[in-house]
This record gives sequence, C-alpha cells and structure tokens, in this order.
Amino acid sequence: MRGAQITGWGMALPEKIVTNADYEARLDTSDEWIVERTGIKERRHGGTTSGLALGAAGRALERAGRRAPEIDLLVLATTTPDQAVPATSSWVHHQLGCRGAAFDLNAACAGFVYGLVTAVALLDAGYERALLIGSDTLSQITDQDDRNTAVLFGDGAGAIVVEATEGEPLILAHDLGLDGSLTSILYCDKGGVIHMEGREVFRKAVRATVESAQRVLKQADVTAEDIALFVPHQANIRIVDAMGQRLGIDPSRYAICLDHTGNTSAASCGIALAEAADAGRLKEGDLVLFSGFGAGMTWASAVVRWGGAPTATPGAPG
Ligand code: ACO
Repeated sequence: MRGAQITGWGMALPEKIVTNADYEARLDTSDEWIVERTGIKERRHGGTTSGLALGAAGRALERAGRRAPEIDLLVLATTTPDQAVPATSSWVHHQLGCRGAAFDLNAACAGFVYGLVTAVALLDAGYERALLIGSDTLSQITDQDDRNTAVLFGDGAGAIVVEATEGEPLILAHDLGLDGSLTSILYCDKGGVIHMEGREVFRKAVRATVESAQRVLKQADVTAEDIALFVPHQANIRIVDAMGQRLGIDPSRYAICLDHTGNTSAASCGIALAEAADAGRLKEGDLVLFSGFGAGMTWASAVVRWGGAPTATPGAPG
C-alpha cells in the first residue's frame, strides 16, 4: 500500500515585531481589548511571501535530511503572491533548486490544510516527495489605520516535507469545502485592503469548522479523545476555544501560535504545527486534527497520523 509520512517541518517569521502597544499609540484601541477579544499580543511584519517561504522550506528540508533536488512536488499555499504572474512557487522552486512540479494554491486561511490534502493526493498519484509551504504577507493588504483589521494579521510561513512510503496512509480522513455565497463578508479587491464583517466571519467560522472537524473524526472512526494535538487556524483564541469546547478537546491539546504571530493566513497551521513539533509535543502514531477556515468562505479539516503507523514490536501480538 502506498502511504505517506511528514518527515520535516519548519517556519519563518519576519524580524519586525509589532506589539499591541504599537497600535495603542496610533489607533483607538487597547492592549486589553485586543488580548481579551482575540488572544493576540504581538505579530510580525515584513519580508516577502517568497522570502518567508524560502526560510520555512529550508528549515523543513534540513529537518527531513533532504536536499531540494530530491523534492518533485512543491505546493505553495498563499493569498498574497509576490506577483500576479507567475506563481510565487516558480521563484521558490528555482531558488531552492527543486525538480518536478510547482504551483500556488489559494484557499485563503484554509490553504495549508487544502495544500496538505492536495500534496498527499499527488503523492498517491506517483510523486515521491512533496514540499508544502503556507506563506502569507497579509500586512501588505491590511489597512494599518483600520482598527477592525490591522491588529489581527501578521506575516509568516510554515512548511512541511511529506514523503511517499510503503506504509500506512498519512491522512485518515479529510473534508474540504466552501460556501462561495459568503465572499462579501471577507474580501480584498485587487490593489485594495481587506474588508471584513468580523462578527459574521466569527459565527460562520465556528459553525463550519466544527461541522467539518466532526465529519473527519467520524470518517476516521476516531473520537476527540483520540486526538493528541489539535492544530486549528490561528485567527482568534475565542474561535479556537469555541471549536475546542464543541468538539470536546481540552486546551492542553491545542497548538497555539496566534499570541505571538497574529493571523498568518495560509501559514498559520504550518507555524503552529512546527512549533508544537519543535517543542516535542508529538510522538510517532499520535493523531493530529487540523481544521481551518478562510475567505471564500473556505474550510478544511484532516485527521493525520504523525510519523506514519506505529511500528509493531517484533513478536508482539497483532
Ligand atoms: N480595538 C477596540 N475596539 C475595536 C477594535 C479594536 N482593535 N476592533 C473593533 N472594535 C470595536 C468595533 O468597532 C465594535 O464597536 P461598536 O460596537 O461601537 O461598533 C466593538 O469593538 C465590538 O465589535 P464586535 O465585532 O462585536 O467584536 P468581536 O467580539 O466580534 O471581535 C473580531 C471582533 C476580533 C474581529 C472578531 O469578530 C473576530 O475575530 N472575527 C473573526 C475574524 C477572522 O477570523 N478573520 C480571519 C478570517 S481568515 C482569512 O481568510 C483572512
């Protein structure tokens, strides 16, 4: 049976830290409001989508013990490409020295999970090693004078290396979807800035992601109790808490980075995963639940078995 395994992970953030105090000094807002309503304390601004992608990809390749020419599939999830044409993945592919296929994927903040499912499906179709990168520079399309959106978004990238194996499947169940009738509650025109009906996005996001996560748990024939790590899209800690409560997942099992990154869109699940893996929070055989949502309005969930299936001890029953 053809399976797959995550063998490397990495992340990159720009150097410039923008704190809540920085906004407090310029806008009619407060650290107290931002922390209480969103959980965000600071975010990073700067760099380019390709530059951050290269940083995260380099670390993921190093962790996997792979060189770029061994990668034959590059999927770059982004909402903020460096240019309209060509795809940002073209430059990243060239700079890294990968071979094979590369393309951008835009599913907004659900991009990392959409990308994961896409990459694994293509590995199943015959590719050998995929590099999945989520990279976004939302600060470039955010009105820094609009308190409704400015405080929420940050820049960053997360990446994983996924390799085909002769083992168990990596993804036990997935659910990708969208409701295109909801484009008006979160959008950015060409050359413009993000417009968002925050309360409406909040309500729809909780509902969509909870239902999506429940579908994948059911499909995978596991319960919330079986999930070792919950990696939600990092938009707002209140959204994550609402999801966790409805799903029955304790906060001790959340992977959270939004307090120091803000919402990094397609990068957010990749950064949260990389930080959790670096902190030693995952062991072979653990089940990871990803669940994201974004403009579109998109949603995506997946149950993933970390490190492939646990290897049976020789001689052990079963
Ligand atoms: N500081 C102080 N007050 C603020 C700020 C701020 N930074 N931002 C908004 N407010 C005000 C509003 O103007 C409003 O004032 P009003 O009552 O006088 O009109 C008041 O706070 C309350 O506004 P609500 O919208 O009810 O506040 P809420 O508790 O819903 O929090 C928030 C707002 C944080 C935006 C929340 O709705 C949210 O997180 N929504 C989801 C956003 C999201 O996930 N976006 C990303 C989607 S992913 C993608 O694809 C990019």
